[in-house]
Amino acid sequence: MYGMVNQAMQKMVVGLHGEDTWLRIRERAGCDIEAFVRMDAYSDSVTYSLVGAAVEELGTDPAALLHAFGVYWIFYAQSAGYRDFFQACDSYQGFVQQLDAMHARLQMAFRELRAPQFACTVEAPDAVRVIYRSHRHGLDPFVAGLFEGLGPVFNVRATVSKTAEHVSQESGVEIHYLVRLEAA
Ligand code: HEM
Repeated sequence: MYGMVNQAMQKMVVGLHGEDTWLRIRERAGCDIEAFVRMDAYSDSVTYSLVGAAVEELGTDPAALLHAFGVYWIFYAQSAGYRDFFQACDSYQGFVQQLDAMHARLQMAFRELRAPQFACTVEAPDAVRVIYRSHRHGLDPFVAGLFEGLGPVFNVRATVSKTAEHVSQESGVEIHYLVRLEAA
């Protein structure tokens, strides 16, 4: 994944646990990259190893770590210069319906991006059905964290539950979520 993702992970861990903890995680992951380059593409194995090492070092549950990282990513992306992408829509429902278009625009800068795919359907004013597809495995708690973290951007509280999951080694994952929205 692009360096921006690994940088965000580093920043989240350093902010919560300090620089020394990050150094131990990096060492445990066998990662000798001191500073990630935001616009360079790294092997996915770098990101997965860092997550695995962080889980061991912090003694946390992998799903909890990935969920927290999803929430953090929304904050991080805005602070890293992508605030306009979020402000292009005036509602949660409108924003999530253009996620593929947004990643397609990002692809112009992140040439090697292998973006996820989203199909979002507004079922009721307070309910959105999400279908997430990716060739990457194991990121479903990250996705739930992203959809939860988007709530405050649009002044709502988003509660995310997984409703179905199809996983295949060849075609990747397809996960369905229901997002409930309430006024924040
Ligand atoms: C403008 C802000 C955003 C930027 C700059 C951004 C950029 C990226 C980048 C660079 C990756 C790594 C993929 C790769 O290197 O191949 C990624 C992955 C991903 N993004 Fe975005 N993204 C943004 C917002 C979002 C939002 C709002 C969501 C969903 C609510 C989202 C969902 C995901 C997911 C789930 C992945 C993991 C890849 C996978 O599942 O295969 N992103 N994004």
